[in-house]
Amino acid sequence: MSNKNIKAVNALEEAQKIAFAPFLFQATISLKRLGIFDLIFDKRIVGGIGVEEIAKELELTNYGVGVLLEIAESSNVVEKNELGKYELTKIGYFLNFSKTAEVNMNFTQDVCYKGLHQMEASIKSGKPKGLKELGDWNTIYEGLSILPDTIKQAWFEFDHHYSDNVFQEALQIVLKNNPKTIFDIGGNTGKFAIACCEQNTEVAIKIIDLPGQLNVALQNVKNRHFDNRVSGYAIDWLSDNPKIPTGADTIWMSQFLDCFSKEEILKILKVCVASMEDDTELYIMETFTDRQKFDNAKFILEATSLYFTVLANGNSKMYKATEFEELIDLAGLKIVKDLMLVGDYHSIFICKKK
Ligand SMILES: C[S@@+](CC[C@H](N)C(=O)[O-])C[C@H]1O[C@@H](n2cnc3c(N)ncnc32)[C@H](O)[C@@H]1O
Repeated sequence: MSNKNIKAVNALEEAQKIAFAPFLFQATISLKRLGIFDLIFDKRIVGGIGVEEIAKELELTNYGVGVLLEIAESSNVVEKNELGKYELTKIGYFLNFSKTAEVNMNFTQDVCYKGLHQMEASIKSGKPKGLKELGDWNTIYEGLSILPDTIKQAWFEFDHHYSDNVFQEALQIVLKNNPKTIFDIGGNTGKFAIACCEQNTEVAIKIIDLPGQLNVALQNVKNRHFDNRVSGYAIDWLSDNPKIPTGADTIWMSQFLDCFSKEEILKILKVCVASMEDDTELYIMETFTDRQKFDNAKFILEATSLYFTVLANGNSKMYKATEFEELIDLAGLKIVKDLMLVGDYHSIFICKKK
């Protein structure tokens, strides 16, 4: 529905919500992390809870609890019942108990919040100007393995939340034709490689990633005693002349190409083509913005694009499937299978050399 018919008073209200969005976000984080949401939820069975009781129980001031709950009430996060006591609304409930809301909030607060201040500078320069809040690197990927613990945890929980749930389904697809050797490009913590080894007793995997991340992945592999079948290959795709070995039956890339600009994606795909035989299959799994069933999922992907802009690398984003189709074609590949819905949000393109 077009927004043209919105009443001015409502439009102004929406505009003010955006103007103060960071205040509400920080108030919500505080309500959650201080345990106020939990306490309100627990007290629903005894008719809710008031400011003074919350303050006493959590050793906070009436003032502090009061200012947080006032804005939360105006934003429909909490409401007062007929006894004048606070209860969580459905929105408040999801903010406190939805796993997706939790990983998104922790990612926003712990990884992105300080850096987001540099959005304008990042857009102007094409560089992730907010990254200096986390470390002195060109891209966040150089520093992933050495991020401070809270930030690292929030980053990995966010990353894994959107791929873990789909890995089992993806695994059946990737292992269907019994590949002997899989290259996992952007293998990250080794989760997919370990899952492959658990599922199939023969397959060998080569994880291809930046040196720091590769060390972490190979250590995880060793801890699970799969080091006889999982090897590593260090690469920086942004270096001048990256190359990968030959010999893969399957090349697997999950949520990897979105870490690069279109020009870089084309370069990566061409390098892969050079290493492929006629029957090598290249699998690309992504969450495409033009393939989401729910507006909300598209919104999360668009926010993720801004993380790439300001913190990750300054030039990548969550793409449309149509943009990938063009790049795949330009790289000298053809899509032999288009699996449009893997899990709730992902698609897989299975490609071969033209
Ligand atoms: C978003 S993670 C994807 C993780 C995993 N495949 C998944 O689906 O959860 C992107 C991966 O790409 C790797 N990566 C990013 N930039 C890279 C570069 N310039 N060279 C090599 N690997 C890179 C990162 O280290 C990371 O492991």
